[in-house]
Amino acid sequence: EGEIHLPDTKFSFEGVFGTYDRASLQRGFQVYKEVCSACHSMHLLSYRNLQEIGLNAEEVAAVAASVQIQDGPNDNGEMFERPGRASDRFRSPFANAAAARAANNGALPPDFSVITKAREGGADYVHALLVGYGEPPEGVTVMEGMHYNKYFAGHQIAMAPPLTQDGQLTFADGTNATVDQMAKDVATFLTWAAEPELESRRAMGVRVILFLAILGGITYAVKRKIWADVH
Ligand code: HEM
Repeated sequence: EGEIHLPDTKFSFEGVFGTYDRASLQRGFQVYKEVCSACHSMHLLSYRNLQEIGLNAEEVAAVAASVQIQDGPNDNGEMFERPGRASDRFRSPFANAAAARAANNGALPPDFSVITKAREGGADYVHALLVGYGEPPEGVTVMEGMHYNKYFAGHQIAMAPPLTQDGQLTFADGTNATVDQMAKDVATFLTWAAEPELESRRAMGVRVILFLAILGGITYAVKRKIWADVH
């Protein structure tokens, strides 16, 4: 056994001046929408939040309208489905946790709203997990319905590899959809979902440091001036 060492993936949002790569965020959303959203909810996000990653209002409306949302009760007390609106929360794939488990061999696909905060390693972990499938080492037996993964705690995960081949989807921006690229982009998107305020938080930090540096300089200059005649 022993510790699991995650590969350190290079992300644009790392470091004090790091920002999200908008194109990567949009590709990551595409991976979520076309692959992960079949099992993983993201219930804290609304479709309109996608404007923050660069989709325009029409694109957001189209994404929302492409799903059917449970609504109601109507005047007759009935529940009904209608096309989504920008103000709707992301549609969950299952009605509840029991239904989600029933569809996944008893395992619960976790909600993705804050997944990069909920797991040690954040984006590095998500990326590693997605590329970490493979044959078990000699002597290790994988339980029925489970899959060997280098980076999952215990190495046996109920999730079948979701990203299996290069070109599994076609990125709208023409980027080559290798497994590694898809994994990196979806990890970027999930980090943004958990920390949409990262860029403004850091910009504020930089401004605070600048302010303090200037204030410190002025204070020092004033001190020198006031004490100039004291010998
Ligand atoms: C668990 C990512 C697609 C079913 C997880 C976990 C992550 C993840 C980060 C948590 C692992 C942990 O607990 O540390 C993704 C991504 C996907 C994707 C990024 C799309 C690229 C899917 C799909 C399914 C699925 C399509 C269902 C067919 C599950 C299940 C678990 C899980 C059942 C719980 C596993 C366990 O506890 O053993 N996934 N997933 N996932 N996922 Fe996915």
